[in-house]
Amino acid sequence: MAEPKGRVAVLAGDGIGPEVMTATREVCGAVEKAYGFQLEWRDGLVGGAAIDAKGKALPAETVELCRSSKAVLFGSVGGPKWESLPPNEQPERAALLPLRKIFGLYANLRPAVLYPELTECSPLRLERVAGGFDVLVVRELTGGLYFGQPKGTEKTERGERAVDTMVYETHEIERVAEVAFLAAAGRKKRVTLVDKANVLESSLLWRKVVKGVAAKHPGIALDFIYVDNAAMQLVREPGRFDVLLCENLFGDILSDEAAAVAGSLGMLPSASLGEGSFGLYEPAGGSAPDIAGKGVANPIAQILSVALMLEMSFGKREEAVAIRGAVAGAIHEGWRTGDIAMKGEKAVGTREMAQEIARRVALGRGKG
Ligand code: IPM
Ligand code: MN
Repeated sequence: MAEPKGRVAVLAGDGIGPEVMTATREVCGAVEKAYGFQLEWRDGLVGGAAIDAKGKALPAETVELCRSSKAVLFGSVGGPKWESLPPNEQPERAALLPLRKIFGLYANLRPAVLYPELTECSPLRLERVAGGFDVLVVRELTGGLYFGQPKGTEKTERGERAVDTMVYETHEIERVAEVAFLAAAGRKKRVTLVDKANVLESSLLWRKVVKGVAAKHPGIALDFIYVDNAAMQLVREPGRFDVLLCENLFGDILSDEAAAVAGSLGMLPSASLGEGSFGLYEPAGGSAPDIAGKGVANPIAQILSVALMLEMSFGKREEAVAIRGAVAGAIHEGWRTGDIAMKGEKAVGTREMAQEIARRVALGRGKG
C-alpha cells in the first residue's frame, strides 16, 4: 500500500505570507517528485485575512482544519489594516497564542544561523561573526508571563493595577528542557540555560529542574547565564553559544536578538512542538507589509520551515536534508533576494529563488 499523504494545514495569512507560500509549494512539488512522499495541502484562513472573511483571527474551522492535520505550515499574520483593533483581537496575538495553547505547543525551536557567505548581512562587525554561526534558541511557549494566572487589570483607589504572573511547574520545565538536550545531542552538545536566578524564584526552579534533566544526558554540557548577560554576549560573540534554553519571555526577546545578529529574518524558520509529532512551522520574520505583493520577499524561511516540518512531524530526514542542501547551494552560488543582496549583487524575486531551490532539490544536488 502506498504511504498515506502527509496532511498539512496551510495557513498563509497576511502580507508576504501568501506569495511566499505559493513559492514554497514549488519546492514541495520538487521534493514530492524526487522522493515520493506526498503532502496533502489544506488551506485555511488565519490572521487579518480571517478577520476580514470571518470576523476572527482564528476561526473555529481553522482550528478544526489543524486538528485533523499532522502539521501546520504557518505563513505570517498582521498588518497596518488591523493595527487599530484592541490588542487581544489583533492577528498576531489572537491567532498565535490560542494555537499554541490549544495544541499544547510548549517547545519553540528558533535556529539563528548566519551562513558563512552572508556574514556581511549581520549588523555585527565582521571579526565578531567570521565564519558564520549557528545558535538554537529553545523557548518555552505555553507558560510563564504569557499565560500565568492571575492575569488582569483592576481599578484601585489610585488608578489601576495590572498583573501578569511568572509561574512555572516542574513538569513544564522538564519537558522543554528535554527538547533542548535532545536538540543539543545532534549539534555541539551544549545547553545554556538563560535565567534570572539572582532575582527570580521561578529561575531557581528552572535551574534545579534543568540540572536534573542534564543528569540524564551525560554527553551534553550544561551551563547557566543570566538573561541580561546573554543579551550582551549575543552581540559580542554569538558563535560561543550552541543551544540557549529560555523561559517564554526571555526566549521571545533573545530569539529576536539572535535573528537580528544573524542578518536576515527572511532566512530563519521555526518549529513549535508539543507531545507527539504534531507541530506548527513558521518563518521567524513577520508579514512585512511594506514589501507585500511585490514578489520580492525572501522565501527561504518558509522553505526551511517545510524542511523542519518534514523532519519533525513526518520523520522525513532525507527530504529535509535535501531542502537544506539546496538552500545552502543556492546561497553558495550567489542567489540572493533583496534582503540579503550586498551592494552590486543582483537580487532575484521570491519565485525565482524558490524555483532555483526546487531545481536543486530535483537534481538531487545540494551544494555546487
Ligand atoms: C513571537 C511573537 C509572539 C510572541 C506575539 C505575536 C504574540 O512575538 O512569536 O515571537 O510574543 O510570542
Ligand atoms: Mn517575538
